[in-house]
Amino acid sequence: IKYTFVNQNTCIACGACGAAAPAIYDFDDEGIAFVRLDGNQGTCEVSEELWDEMDDAFEDCPTDSVKILDRPFTQRE
Ligand code: F3S
Repeated sequence: IKYTFVNQNTCIACGACGAAAPAIYDFDDEGIAFVRLDGNQGTCEVSEELWDEMDDAFEDCPTDSVKILDRPFTQRE
């Protein structure tokens, strides 16, 4: 079970996450990423077939803004 969340305070709008995992990550008008599954709440379980691309997004983010946990995110962690 995995959940993902983007720390928008550290995202520099590089675009790598959405390129790696377009089904999970999208960008707002300023290019800041968010998780499209749940409006960046980090509370929607990511289906297993997306784990590989989610891991790619995690590894590709230059600012470590892509977060992954095995439980739902609570506040801005
Ligand atoms: Fe931002 Fe990292 Fe994605 S900087 S656009 S969260 S790859």
